Amino acid sequence: MRELSPGLAGVPAAKSSISFVNGQTGLLEYRGIGIEDLAAHSSFLETTFLLLYGELPTQGKLAQFVGDVRLHRRIKYRITDLIKCLPEHGHPMDALQAAVAALGMFYPARHVVDRQVQYWSTIRLIAKVPTIVAAYSRIRRGDEQIQPRDDLDHASNFLYMLTETVPDPLIAKVLDTCLILHAEHTMNASTFSGLVTASTLADPYTVVSSAIGTLKGPLHGGATQETVEMLEEIGSVDNVRPYIEQRLAAKQKLMGFGHRIYKVKDPRAVILQQLAQQLFAQYGRSPLYNLAEEVERVGEALLAGKGIHANVDFYSGVLYKTMGLDGDFFPTIFAMARVSGWLAHWLEQLKDNKLFRPDQIYDGQHGRAYVPIDRRLGGV
Ligand SMILES: CC(C)(COP(=O)(O)OP(=O)(O)OC[C@H]1O[C@@H](n2cnc3c(N)ncnc32)[C@H](O)[C@@H]1OP(=O)(O)O)[C@@H](O)C(=O)NCCC(=O)NCCS
Repeated sequence: MRELSPGLAGVPAAKSSISFVNGQTGLLEYRGIGIEDLAAHSSFLETTFLLLYGELPTQGKLAQFVGDVRLHRRIKYRITDLIKCLPEHGHPMDALQAAVAALGMFYPARHVVDRQVQYWSTIRLIAKVPTIVAAYSRIRRGDEQIQPRDDLDHASNFLYMLTETVPDPLIAKVLDTCLILHAEHTMNASTFSGLVTASTLADPYTVVSSAIGTLKGPLHGGATQETVEMLEEIGSVDNVRPYIEQRLAAKQKLMGFGHRIYKVKDPRAVILQQLAQQLFAQYGRSPLYNLAEEVERVGEALLAGKGIHANVDFYSGVLYKTMGLDGDFFPTIFAMARVSGWLAHWLEQLKDNKLFRPDQIYDGQHGRAYVPIDRRLGGV
């Protein structure tokens, strides 16, 4: 008797050596290196190299990789034109998905096992996704796109393309660390979606646009925005306890809390909280951060007994909001980071590809007669 596992929960979909999670101890490693070490010492692009190729780069290899990314940040004017045609009230994830799919028309990459195709499409995607996100952010407000600067690091360049101002190095460092923390997380829904697409030998732009579509859903990449909306709804520190008690009594979940795998505080939330403390020590505490700390304190008191603690989305929204980003752009920052993980899984899948073609358990009818339309009664 075959058993159905809804959501494929607990069913391994692939062998992978890219990342590892232990939800009981709060361990997350990329290629065997703890996330705390990477957050403290690495950069997003160095971590991306590690995820893609399995080793930390030498100085020469890192300089080459970073240089290649910096030189490929610009997008074709026709991609900008495409973005200009999109409705300004649309969701930024839809704009990103459309533009990434369109990139594949400019850079044909059908020979996916060719090493050159693999390298340059990886570089292009990592380089151009932030440019697309920033371009849509400006164009939807009626402003001109700002061209990337190849003298700036990854996070500084992104913030520059959003605001036309080179950011304070601390803010850029905080964003870069957020990107490291969101870059990869084992077999999540968007990675699986990208893998299924990769297994058909579709080009990498199609793989990444599939993954972006999956990440958009509120059960995956949308929780950061909802966490900030919840904090704004709470409004004041005095209202935290009554709000949470009421919400839990109504069987509603506390946003930014709980995780399918982590039964202790998400290690990424621990690092993000430290980053928030550094940021607010320099800039003064924001009312939103004060609220977040109180929500975490009360949430812990009420939910920790059930193994429910703050997750990665809890503090990242507060940080993004402090950087001046709009709530509906939070998932695109997630995508800017996770593109590294998706591409690492794409490369891994191609080493030993097998088309995903799962089975189903059919529970419908058999052998029914076709009834002509004039003899059908009722029905749907
Ligand atoms: C992430 C999430 C979907 C994982 O949940 P899961 O492993 O599928 O667990 P379930 O949703 O089945 O919840 C199990 C129990 O914990 C409770 N629970 C889980 N997360 C909760 C939360 N954030 N607030 C309150 N209760 C929560 C459920 O109500 C359920 O309680 P019950 O057994 O009394 O019915 C869930 O914690 C959640 O929806 N969190 C809020 C959204 C969020 O922050 N998502 C981002 C995740 S990174």
